[in-house]
Amino acid sequence: MHLLETKGLDLHLKLGESWVQVLDGVSLVLDPGSSLALVGESGCGKSLCALTLMGLVPAVEHRIEGSIIFKGRDLLLLSERERRCIRGSGIGLCYQDSSTALNPVLRIGTQLMEILHVHHRVSPRLASGEDPEPLARRMLERVGLEEPRRVLRSYPHQLSGGERQRVMLALALAPGPAVLLADEPTASLDVTVQAGLLDLLRLLCRELDLALLLITHDLAVAARTCRDVAVMYAGQIVETGPLGEVFSQPAHPYTRALLASHPSNARPGVDLPTIPGRVPNILRYPRACRFKPRCTIFSENCPPTEPRLTALPSPTGSTRQSRCHLQGLPL
Ligand SMILES: Nc1ncnc2c1ncn2[C@@H]1O[C@H](COP(=O)(O)OP(=O)(O)OP(=O)(O)O)[C@@H](O)[C@H]1O
Ligand SMILES: [Mg+2]
Repeated sequence: MHLLETKGLDLHLKLGESWVQVLDGVSLVLDPGSSLALVGESGCGKSLCALTLMGLVPAVEHRIEGSIIFKGRDLLLLSERERRCIRGSGIGLCYQDSSTALNPVLRIGTQLMEILHVHHRVSPRLASGEDPEPLARRMLERVGLEEPRRVLRSYPHQLSGGERQRVMLALALAPGPAVLLADEPTASLDVTVQAGLLDLLRLLCRELDLALLLITHDLAVAARTCRDVAVMYAGQIVETGPLGEVFSQPAHPYTRALLASHPSNARPGVDLPTIPGRVPNILRYPRACRFKPRCTIFSENCPPTEPRLTALPSPTGSTRQSRCHLQGLPL
């Protein structure tokens, strides 16, 4: 049994009068100590995938199908009350944007204390007279914040972007989750701060034996942090497997195009390749293969059906899958 496993997870949102399918058959597996990067271009459904796992889909009418098995229980069959017990303490989420996810009118100390109160029954005014602040300070120190007293007294806008991201991480880890979903934890940071935060994330995951789902559009961030990767395109997983294997021998044309267009492949005087076209609008996902309009290897012989995620041979015997009609054909 896996710690967290999604099977054929679908998310439908009602936009205006019509229903649109934002996630289509997403199957992911996480175990203690595992690290999975969910990568893909903006708008492909990464954040909604994390919010679906948390049971925090934005307040539009929606429908979720499939299953989310956490410690043997299908979260989609639980009541909201039971779900609330798992949210935070079982599965934690570090939100995509720290400048909006933190409450701007509350000091960091108040926000952290509230979480400690809810999840650890730590009262801000303990009857015993014991001060909960040292616990809060330790939590900030654990995520590398060197002046925890100042940070506890600060409002979010008084902190730097890097400090805010570390605070977000502290808030997500405070309830002691077994699974951490980190949504673009370094997106707005410069490269040195980014590298420090990713190293910290790896260290914490190892120390706490966490299962990590790291959401990013940056393949270098994924490569620095995770052992496995799932590539998402237009709400579907199009390729999965050990990150080293997938990045060195990508099977899906979308993965290949993402890797080719990464700035690390830039050469002086040569234009960096880009992926033609754009991610399709959720209201108009192409029929059959969703990547077809942008695919450079698309063949007239590709059948007009949706390609399925199918297993690929792996030299190391690990599980690799890709969703392409031309799979296995010489390219
Ligand atoms: N509350 C909402 N109501 C309607 N549509 C939404 C809502 N939230 C997201 N969407 C749409 O769902 C799709 C997936 O959004 P999502 O935020 O999951 O993308 P993402 O992969 O996280 O992108 P990014 O890398 O930019 O964060 C997008 O087309 C987005 O416009
Ligand atoms: Mg997002």
